[in-house]
Amino acid sequence: MCGIVGYVGRNPAAPILIDSLKKLEYRGYDSAGITVLNSSLTTYKNAGMIADLESILPGEIKGNIGIGHTRWATHGQPNTTNAHPHLSGDIAVVHNGIIENYLELKEKLIQAGYDFKSETDTEVIVHLLHWHLYGEVSSESKKCDILTAFRMTLKELEGSYAIAAVCRNEPGLLVVARKDSPLVLGLGNGEIFAASDVTAFLKHTKSVMFVDDMEIALVRNEGAEFFGIDGTPITKHSTTIEWDIEAAEKAGYQHYMLKEIHEQATSVHDTFSGKVSEMEGSVNLDELNLSNEQIQHLTRIEIIACGTSWNAGLLGKYLFEQLAGIHTDVDTGSEFRYGYPVMCGEVLTIAITQSGETADTLAAVRGAKSYGCRAMAITNVVGSTITRETDSVLYTRAGPEIGVAATKTFTAQMITLYLLALRFGRARGGVNVDDAKNLIIALKRIPGQIQMILNKKDLIQECALQFADSNDYFFIGRHLNYPVALEGALKLKEISYIHAEGYAAGELKHGPLALINDGTPIVAIATKGHTYDKMLSNIKEVKARGAVVIAVADEDDTEIEKYADVVLRIPPSHELLSPILSSVVLQLLAYYTALARGCPVDKPRNLAKSVTVE
Ligand code: G6P
Repeated sequence: MCGIVGYVGRNPAAPILIDSLKKLEYRGYDSAGITVLNSSLTTYKNAGMIADLESILPGEIKGNIGIGHTRWATHGQPNTTNAHPHLSGDIAVVHNGIIENYLELKEKLIQAGYDFKSETDTEVIVHLLHWHLYGEVSSESKKCDILTAFRMTLKELEGSYAIAAVCRNEPGLLVVARKDSPLVLGLGNGEIFAASDVTAFLKHTKSVMFVDDMEIALVRNEGAEFFGIDGTPITKHSTTIEWDIEAAEKAGYQHYMLKEIHEQATSVHDTFSGKVSEMEGSVNLDELNLSNEQIQHLTRIEIIACGTSWNAGLLGKYLFEQLAGIHTDVDTGSEFRYGYPVMCGEVLTIAITQSGETADTLAAVRGAKSYGCRAMAITNVVGSTITRETDSVLYTRAGPEIGVAATKTFTAQMITLYLLALRFGRARGGVNVDDAKNLIIALKRIPGQIQMILNKKDLIQECALQFADSNDYFFIGRHLNYPVALEGALKLKEISYIHAEGYAAGELKHGPLALINDGTPIVAIATKGHTYDKMLSNIKEVKARGAVVIAVADEDDTEIEKYADVVLRIPPSHELLSPILSSVVLQLLAYYTALARGCPVDKPRNLAKSVTVE
């Protein structure tokens, strides 16, 4: 999704803006632009990649303050005219989000004499700001101060926004504001950065201030002043980001995705580390602020998530039901927010979102809260919007994930759900202390077992090459392996563009069998567990119709070789935990397939890492 950046300081702004935009490339975009404020508003923008933008920049652009943008087209084609920044007189604006009432505002502004150049919703912001500041299209004498003009502008906007603006009449001042779209300031020495996320300026500073909803910040190189939309000054404190820049770089891997797949032995370990006691069979999640009594009184869990996070949520459902005996529903944010959910009893809403910024998930959580539910978040991003909208937060400790296709955040979400289900299971008597100890012992083996899979990744690459030309792929699994199948299919389609479907294996007969031809690859997650025999039957069923079966199975399973054409092995683990290991195998399968097909693995077409619009 769109990324915005801003800079005010003592150094030339243009190279800093370009560098920051490159750090946001992973969010997905189709055009880019910058404006540097000097004696005028020097603006360059272009359809295509940041490299295309760089190719039209002159050697030097004077000016120590500016704004920049990567656009992911929503209103209007991804062309140069629609690219940001947008200008009105002496003001330039970049915007991430969607202005829902832009047509109405546009009409009013056209009547006031403003000339619209683009098809974007954003252009209304800059003209509206100009109108509030100067009172008419051709005036250059201010009617009010910039803060007042900004406040009046924001009051008229409906929708979501993170905005950064510079004005020729306000040298040295960068103005930013947000509502429902991420925005953070980075505090350097005599310089301040603004961006959609911290990776944009992490190499300059780890000291940050998060801009909250309906807040405006007036940013100068010596500091930032915060105000509410009513003009009330707000006191802000800075926080320090723990990630370092190395964690966000490729570290010698060909793609971020491959690096992030490899980081899972560590990220999984970091996510449970310090939270489990093998001796006591206990899980410590103090940050939940839930007593045993409150956990015992829960009548239902409502999980809300999108994409890969939804697949983790489905695994969570099985875990909460099996370990803690709590009825659990899983809804996508986009469905829940427009539904009529029955939220009676003690319902705990759990939002799962790696970015903490997914618009549908945020809206659905707000909806759930309006029914009086307690809400908690599982997220990877400290200070993200979801952390401010929920009563408690469990952080996955996956570190920055840059590849659009989620990998290490997915396994970290699964680990967090295990911890939560085990904690709830202990509190509600669903898991006795010995079973808890055994699960914790098995959990602690997972990082080493992930490493074992990574050490044999060549075998997975061979398999990927064998089927890289396929047009269709099916992934099947039962119970805990069903979400694994869904995620395996999602990963493959996202990055290799092969049509792939995940199915509950028992559902094959209800449609998909009609699509199986000679040579159709079917990935069957057939790890040992209570549905193993049923999976063998499903494998026979598809083999009989000509499918080629790639089984994901335990290292010590000799039976499976009789039925499957290719077997990808995982080290034997607890049935409840094997989905983590199988998922790593399927991530590698998707990665090597996309690589073989020459796809842009880290930035798949039309997709974005952080979906901040509906
Ligand atoms: C986008 C990303 C996916 C992600 C989904 C939900 O589609 O490309 O990888 O699973 O958004 O994002 P969230 O940040 O809420 O987990």
